[in-house]
Amino acid sequence: MEGASDPTLMDKVVNLAKVRGFVFPSAEIYGGFRSTYDYGPLGVLMLRNVKNAWWRTMVQLRDDVVGLDAAILSPPSIWAASGHLATFSDPMVDCRNCKERWRADQIGATCPNCGSADLTEPREFNLMFKTHAGPVDDEAHVAYLRPETAQGMFTNFSNVLRTTRKRPPFGIAQIGKSFRNEITPQNFIFRTREFEQMEMEFFVPPADAAGWFDYWLDLRFRWHLDLGIPASHLRKRLHESEELSHYSVQTADIEFLYPWGWGELEGVANRTDFDLKAHATASGEPLDFFDQAANERYTPFVIEPALGATRSMMAFLLAAYDEDQVGGEARTVLRLDWRLAPYAVAVLPLSKKDELEPTAREVLSVLQPHFSCDYDTTQSIGRRYRRQDEVGTPWCVTVDFDSLEDRAVTVRDRDTTEQVRVPIDALLGELQRRTTTG
Ligand code: GAP
Repeated sequence: MEGASDPTLMDKVVNLAKVRGFVFPSAEIYGGFRSTYDYGPLGVLMLRNVKNAWWRTMVQLRDDVVGLDAAILSPPSIWAASGHLATFSDPMVDCRNCKERWRADQIGATCPNCGSADLTEPREFNLMFKTHAGPVDDEAHVAYLRPETAQGMFTNFSNVLRTTRKRPPFGIAQIGKSFRNEITPQNFIFRTREFEQMEMEFFVPPADAAGWFDYWLDLRFRWHLDLGIPASHLRKRLHESEELSHYSVQTADIEFLYPWGWGELEGVANRTDFDLKAHATASGEPLDFFDQAANERYTPFVIEPALGATRSMMAFLLAAYDEDQVGGEARTVLRLDWRLAPYAVAVLPLSKKDELEPTAREVLSVLQPHFSCDYDTTQSIGRRYRRQDEVGTPWCVTVDFDSLEDRAVTVRDRDTTEQVRVPIDALLGELQRRTTTG
């Protein structure tokens, strides 16, 4: 990867993301809408791959975690009990001169925009988006867009216990959109007002919480490494006590080395029994567990790994971006793990001539049920290779005129650019071998 030392890396990745259809600024034809982004044809594939990779590790490969998809719209009672109405806020100051608004903890005594020292006193600004459910626009109909997916796992704790017969230690995982009225959204899709989270609440006997915290922190750290974030760009950082969220007694960030320096990628928190107890008290519904073997009732502690899907995608893009030389020519290449790349394979007929199409389409139909595939007939083969390199496609399969005679195709590797001839009948097996061995 280019590394945090390249001052232009961020601009290059943002530009590539836009030009190649990963991420577009939202509402661009109306001049854009600050801090919102749309995921284009390649972005939607990659974001889905990030989410699938998370789900596979966190749910599919385990027998102690189940899934959930809870509502985004939620009543104030949830956020009163969770503490978000009272405490989920940033201190904010307004510049009386230029009217810009800033986070008080991120600026000094003067406005970073106009230099004026005429700033208001800091005020707490709640980060939740408030709306009204139904046609009546009054306090009785207030609803909030969730600022984290986690509360759905707490409010459904008893439903999941009852319907799955899981018992602690077990987890509930969810992927979905969250919304925060961030005062300073910034750095492309790093901090946005609308974003996607991948969270898992793992319910454990209180005495085991510290051990499970270490377990999940370690497992989550290795997940990023396994999918291609270099060890030099990943570290763990324990929160100081004054940094802890209102619900946490221990939090560690998994930090990534962004172009602007180290910053949070994922958080792992010990939320104790705070949320279950708060909802039990507020709703009057018991949210606890009866351990028959020990003949005791207790409220589980919760260990929570929480990662932004969109932030994770950005870290993978930054880590994968590279520039090198091939045959004396400069190229841009995204060295994405094949599990994350928008396309695992591109099928490329050497020429647009009609004779190649039936064989090329036959190859495509063999691969499509197993891999996300692109099919591209435009421009020279060299240009097409470069285009696939730039969007991270690990393998190009070229169908040429010899293919019609020998029923073989050329497989080109993105990273080494090495090309090998493979019989069409052995192609699927060859690609499956490459995707299981590395
Ligand atoms: N349920 C705990 C929780 O929400 P958090 O640290 O506020 O904790 C978890 O958020 C993760 O969600 C962060 O580590 C980050 O990856 C992502 N995230 C949080 N706010 C975000 C934002 N405004 N834009 C994009 N991702 C965000």
